[in-house]
Amino acid sequence: MDPLSDAKIIDSWRKNAAPWTDAVRESRIESRALVTNQAIIDAVMSRSPRTALDIGCGEGWLVRELAGRGVRATGVDAVPALVEQAARAGGGEFRVASYEAIAAGELHLAVDVAVANFSLIGKDAVDALVRRVPALLSPRGAFIVQTLHPLVASGDQPYRDGWRAGSWAGFGAEFTDPAPWYFRTLESWVALLVSSGLRLIELREPPHPATGKPASVVLVAEASG
Ligand SMILES: C[S@@+](CC[C@H](N)C(=O)[O-])C[C@H]1O[C@@H](n2cnc3c(N)ncnc32)[C@H](O)[C@@H]1O
Repeated sequence: MDPLSDAKIIDSWRKNAAPWTDAVRESRIESRALVTNQAIIDAVMSRSPRTALDIGCGEGWLVRELAGRGVRATGVDAVPALVEQAARAGGGEFRVASYEAIAAGELHLAVDVAVANFSLIGKDAVDALVRRVPALLSPRGAFIVQTLHPLVASGDQPYRDGWRAGSWAGFGAEFTDPAPWYFRTLESWVALLVSSGLRLIELREPPHPATGKPASVVLVAEASG
């Protein structure tokens, strides 16, 4: 398997489903606890949605948070072990679905918010998924993406799109074989949205209280049609 590929991302997440579930549920990821969980909840709730689709839902924490706020949410993820964990914890409906399958039209939903929280990691699979998003939105629906802030995440490497090796630095020894990820500049995130029939209506940069740098970037888009 190509170590820098969409297929490898899913392979790696399959291997890390159990420790990931524990880390999320025990609030062990500091930036999430301090900033980014609330940032994505606020962005989603700013749309006052009745329904939501959590794309790459992992063990399902966001669906449960939204359920507690009266939002009927569905979570989808390619990794069966994560979807099982999510379904067991409840709060919404969960299905195993890869971005490739969603792009091929397997999901028939029209939601007020489609949200992807740190889950748009790959290249072609993500491009194809985002192109499908307008078909999954209700008439005034929004697509909300939270991702690593490119300016912070690019580190010392050149600021241009490309595959990067993964790392579990800062996570425990129970994590193995980190997923690669496809770095996108801010310019190319916006270009991907626009070329997919979406228009950016808001961009948020929630600051990390310790570093003063953005802990993430949150993109809010609507169908442009
Ligand atoms: C960093 S985790 C985030 C999970 C969840 N959104 C959260 O906030 O905890 C990334 C998730 O994206 C999912 N994912 C990555 N590529 C995918 C693909 N091509 N199809 C479906 N899910 C994918 C992984 O299985 C994993 O659950």
